[in-house]
Amino acid sequence: MKITLTGSLGNISKPLAIELVQKGHTVTVISSKAERQKDIEALGAKAAIGNLEDVPFLTSAFKGADAIYTMIPPPHFGVPNFDLMENWNKLVNNFAEAIQKSEVKRVVHLSSVGADMTKNSGIIIGHRNAEFVLSKLQNVEITFIRPVGFYYNLLLFIPAIKNRGSIASNYGSDDLIPWVSPIDIAATISTEIITSTLAHRKVLYVASEELTCNEVASILGAAIGKPDLKWDLITNEQLQSAYEGFGMSKLLVAGLVEMQASMHSGEFYRDYYLNKPELGKVKLKDYAKEFAVVYNK
Ligand SMILES: NC(=O)c1ccc[n+]([C@@H]2O[C@H](COP(=O)([O-])OP(=O)(O)OC[C@H]3O[C@@H](n4cnc5c(N)ncnc54)[C@H](OP(=O)(O)O)[C@@H]3O)[C@@H](O)[C@H]2O)c1
Repeated sequence: MKITLTGSLGNISKPLAIELVQKGHTVTVISSKAERQKDIEALGAKAAIGNLEDVPFLTSAFKGADAIYTMIPPPHFGVPNFDLMENWNKLVNNFAEAIQKSEVKRVVHLSSVGADMTKNSGIIIGHRNAEFVLSKLQNVEITFIRPVGFYYNLLLFIPAIKNRGSIASNYGSDDLIPWVSPIDIAATISTEIITSTLAHRKVLYVASEELTCNEVASILGAAIGKPDLKWDLITNEQLQSAYEGFGMSKLLVAGLVEMQASMHSGEFYRDYYLNKPELGKVKLKDYAKEFAVVYNK
């Protein structure tokens, strides 16, 4: 198959490109940076260098593909007043226009757990809007991939572990939270791309392991030589002011705090538990080794 991937050599798209190339497919990887071309070609894929904001470029990168993988890059947390909704709406409308103009018939789109929610999902409302825009496309088979929280989010807690000796957030303690590795997400996407489901619209959740936050703290703690590491619960207001103290955009922080409050209440995972996937292969103990390397840098 001819397959075009957005997401460059990012967390999901790199293992996805490797897997699809190994399976014998002709893979094109979109990156915004010309210097990425040689690394993409080294994987056995073709590079399409250009920007997701450029519809004619996207149309030509999608043209002739049997299937495409679309993803919206993560928000710029450090840019003051970054308007996530405006940015994500623009990008998803670009995808929709390029899909129609290129006449691609099979799309696997990266969304998120929480995209079913109409309120209390914080920044994830942007993923819900994206699903809505793409769902309106005619004559296109679309799978929405809804991963749970990525293991790499845990890296955000390194300053707290170093400064206060514990993890702290407005979810935590004994909250049961599902986690996922981008490697398991890539495996699900790869299978989905090459298996025509003949379903007009489909939603697939992806998760690797379900753990309480204190279990997460114990596993990370063991990996970094702090076996008594704990995960404290703090209030929404305490978290908002701590994140703002790191210079993060106030608007985005409010969206994160609201999303995490729903993780704490369990509302965020209601649809996930109703449509629970088989868990993936990469467990937190595996990821903890990578976490420890970054922690010790
Ligand atoms: N973190 C979570 O818990 C979680 C949970 C559910 C869903 N998600 C979603 O997962 C996605 C992130 O996936 P990921 O970690 O695989 O992403 P990632 O590693 O951050 O990869 C995104 C890549 O896209 C490329 N890119 C960025 N802006 C571009 C542009 N304007 N034009 C062309 N390419 C551009 C960049 O590569 P170049 O520099 O080479 O262009 C970047 O490395 C987000 O949509 C997020 O909302 C995250």
